[in-house]
Amino acid sequence: MPMTISAEQQEQMLAAARAAFKNAHAPYSNFKVGATVLTERGTLYQGCNVENASYGLTICAERNAIFAAVAAEGSDMTIKAVAVATANDGPCAPCGACRQVIFEFGPDALILFRGQSGTEQMAITKLLPEGFRL
Ligand code: THU
Repeated sequence: MPMTISAEQQEQMLAAARAAFKNAHAPYSNFKVGATVLTERGTLYQGCNVENASYGLTICAERNAIFAAVAAEGSDMTIKAVAVATANDGPCAPCGACRQVIFEFGPDALILFRGQSGTEQMAITKLLPEGFRL
């Protein structure tokens, strides 16, 4: 059964993602991203991207939100949905690394993001076929 969430919850998640990008630290790319994770418990967690002068140390908004959820709920935290928003309101699908981290905690997760032709809702397994598992 594909994951579905109510229109009201979708709007709440996107609004929280838009609020989250305001705290982004993105002086190098000027690309501010916010993300919201909805867990099975029904709690929302926010994250923003945090860049570093040593560029490779940058962490994406999605992973920061997921790690906040793990820190709060523990290792059995399950992701129901993830929403992504950017300050420039342009396309931003989760990067490959974030897809793998989403899959770890939410193999049935639904991802809300802006694609090339507008808002998309896509299962993580469509964004990441054959995700890695030990
Ligand atoms: N970024 C995210 O936070 N999430 C994504 O899904 C894609 C990229 C960040 C990383 C970096 O700070 C900036 O966007 C430009 O790549």
